[in-house]
Amino acid sequence: MARTSVVTGSASGIGKATRELLELRGERVIGVDVHDAEVVADLSDAAGRTALVEGVRRLSGGRIDAVYAVAGLAAPTPATVAVNFFGTLATLEGLRSLLSGSRAPRAVLVSSMAALLPSDEDLVALLGICDEPAALARAEILAKEPETTGALIYASTKLALSRWVRRQAATPQWAGAGIPLNAVAPGIIATPMTAELIATEQGREALLKMVPMPLNGIAESAVVAKLLAWLGGEENTHVCGQIVYVDGGSDVVLRGDSVW
Ligand SMILES: NC(=O)c1ccc[n+]([C@@H]2O[C@H](COP(=O)([O-])OP(=O)(O)OC[C@H]3O[C@@H](n4cnc5c(N)ncnc54)[C@H](O)[C@@H]3O)[C@@H](O)[C@H]2O)c1
Repeated sequence: MARTSVVTGSASGIGKATRELLELRGERVIGVDVHDAEVVADLSDAAGRTALVEGVRRLSGGRIDAVYAVAGLAAPTPATVAVNFFGTLATLEGLRSLLSGSRAPRAVLVSSMAALLPSDEDLVALLGICDEPAALARAEILAKEPETTGALIYASTKLALSRWVRRQAATPQWAGAGIPLNAVAPGIIATPMTAELIATEQGREALLKMVPMPLNGIAESAVVAKLLAWLGGEENTHVCGQIVYVDGGSDVVLRGDSVW
């Protein structure tokens, strides 16, 4: 029987490329997004997160094989905290029980190499204890200076997501239930999220200084989609709690000998 996969952020960029690749491989995809999706849901709030779980339950008949949590924002605003961190957790935790009927259940989220860039310690700590009201309040303060402190919000959400994967993957709920839980950490990918930043040579150069990509430079969404599809596919039986960098080498350049 064809696999049924849920892809959030399916209307654009990496989510759209993932959806297209899975469909090409004969899978059924239930897309989730704020527009142009089977389940239209806003993952920034409780009502949208409930709509996601109910919508997927209804459309799938209660059994899915993989969850790809891709939806995200990069704006220096509290909404980025709500969608990137709490929306992603709500997706994975809310849909986990629907994976129990699959013979090869899988879960993958999209973090970022930005987890290696400067972040806000207080915000990361609040995300570490999953305190959404306090995290949103902290982001509100950071957002007052969009260019400086606001810019730390995105990296903080991705660092916290990567840590969440590490903390959760080996637990009874995930590994113990036979579900590999992993993340990908892309470098710069050409999507609507980065379009403005990489539209000019000057913009590209400035971004590549921060995110060096010696191997093949800025990538297309399909590059990330192929890795996601492998981590979320049947072949992946033993990759557990990994943050797989698909970043043209930025992790290597920035972290060097830090092998873990
Ligand atoms: N593009 C990059 O360079 C890059 C690098 C590293 C990580 N990422 C991550 O990859 C993921 C996908 O980003 P992308 O580059 O494809 O961006 P994108 O803007 O093209 O797509 C993001 C999708 O998420 C959806 N989304 C946003 N807010 C939502 C909400 N509240 N509820 C439901 N859906 C919502 C959007 O509607 C959109 O379809 C994000 O998590 C992003 O942080 C992107």
